[in-house]
Amino acid sequence: MTKTNNNSIPDKSNIQGMILRGFTHPYSCHLIFQFNDKPGAKNFIKSIFPYIQSAESWGDAKPDIMLNIGLTYSGIKATSDLSETYLEYFPNSFIEGPTSAGSQGSLNDWGVSDPSGWAFGNDTDEQHVDCIVHTYAMTDETRALIVSIVSDAAKANGLTEFLPIDNGTKRLEEYALMPRNFIHFAYLDGIDQPDLTWNDPADPNDTGDLRNFLIGYPLSDSGPGPTGDNPAGDFAKDGCYNAFRMLYQDVKVFDEFLIANAPKAPKEIQQTPEYAQEWIAAKLNGRWRNGSPLELSPNAPDVATSHATDFGYKGDTTGMKCPFAAHTRVGNPRDEVLNSSEPSPVPRLIRRGMAYGAPPTLKSYDGERGLIGLFLCGSIATQFELLYSWMNTTNFASTFTSQQGQDGLIANRDTPGADRSFNIPTADGSITIDSLPHFVITRGTAYCLLPSISTLKSIAG
Ligand code: HEM
Repeated sequence: MTKTNNNSIPDKSNIQGMILRGFTHPYSCHLIFQFNDKPGAKNFIKSIFPYIQSAESWGDAKPDIMLNIGLTYSGIKATSDLSETYLEYFPNSFIEGPTSAGSQGSLNDWGVSDPSGWAFGNDTDEQHVDCIVHTYAMTDETRALIVSIVSDAAKANGLTEFLPIDNGTKRLEEYALMPRNFIHFAYLDGIDQPDLTWNDPADPNDTGDLRNFLIGYPLSDSGPGPTGDNPAGDFAKDGCYNAFRMLYQDVKVFDEFLIANAPKAPKEIQQTPEYAQEWIAAKLNGRWRNGSPLELSPNAPDVATSHATDFGYKGDTTGMKCPFAAHTRVGNPRDEVLNSSEPSPVPRLIRRGMAYGAPPTLKSYDGERGLIGLFLCGSIATQFELLYSWMNTTNFASTFTSQQGQDGLIANRDTPGADRSFNIPTADGSITIDSLPHFVITRGTAYCLLPSISTLKSIAG
């Protein structure tokens, strides 16, 4: 494998595309596999290798079909020639996976989200995931084509597929049924991402520096790893971790919650019941459903701010504009003063998620729907899991000492010791919602490495 100097800008042709850019293809499908033997696994990667999209520019001709590949720790074990000694160079969170005690301390998949009920990834022999293939297509026909190319290669090489093709309703597909960039619960998503940069020299205060996401370019001696001039470092270099999470969204519970709590909104908000519901939805998220951040547009959504990302929370010390536990305020507290034990600056995640499943109809909420979350980072423990633990326990800033509370949208409400109440400070005093329900239920999780293209090539032989 070619080695690059640690200070040189990484070669985009060696990096899987989704790490550096969000794919905007209207159709995508995520296929989840277990390998059965090494030759089959390697041959599978070889068969689909020609369709991998790198991070290089595709110019004017957007590829009609393309894919990216993720391997879990067991997938790496099954396909690579790394010895046990070098496999141990990978971080514990990745080796042990999302159901380990350490990871569950952050993810808190209690009760309805318990891993025993997951559709994949609960790490029993039947459920462990080795590989996820993320496919993208421009039309429904080409979506079917790329899915069949991957599925046929999987069958030919003895792989087991989760959520198989003959169970169309469960497959993780997006049929572009949602208005573009909106997700269930009707919020605009994909607004704020780290601005990926490459500073020379590395800037430890720039959380968008690619070295925080790409493996092999540590900002400090401690990570992200594995690094160094050894087989594990070579294997992982130019890769990035992907915490892949399938999150069911209970739109019925969410809609009923908004209707039930809208009457608590202040009088001036009660222009119509619908507007009061919008206000509650904005307070849970920190942005109005159109995307306007509460910090910039506290009183009403505004098209002019719907994609705004340049704001902070320091001036809102009472949470009067944006509640402390609003989802986006917890996920990225920006300039908020955090407990001294927390990292500064706040770690970021690259989010490449999308909605799955059809929205409810006027007549029925039946059906499976939610978010396919792809959370990309250089360190699962200190980026993804840290932010997740903040969402479940909000123990990261002294603002929360008198009122614990949890992330308004996604936290697991059965997290031990968690306070399920949600506070909305207003000029006339605080509105307290006593008990937030489970809006989101975990359906499955897998921690993957999105290896470099040269690493995938060496696997494919
Ligand atoms: C079904 C589950 C989820 C829903 C409905 C949801 C919804 C949203 C929405 C509507 C936004 C605002 C749009 C934007 O800023 O781009 C957002 C932002 C964000 N979400 Fe989520 N999210 C979910 C799960 C997660 C999870 C599991 C994490 C990570 C642990 C996460 C981390 C973030 C972060 C970091 C931001 C950006 C905040 C900022 O930079 O201001 N989300 N989410």
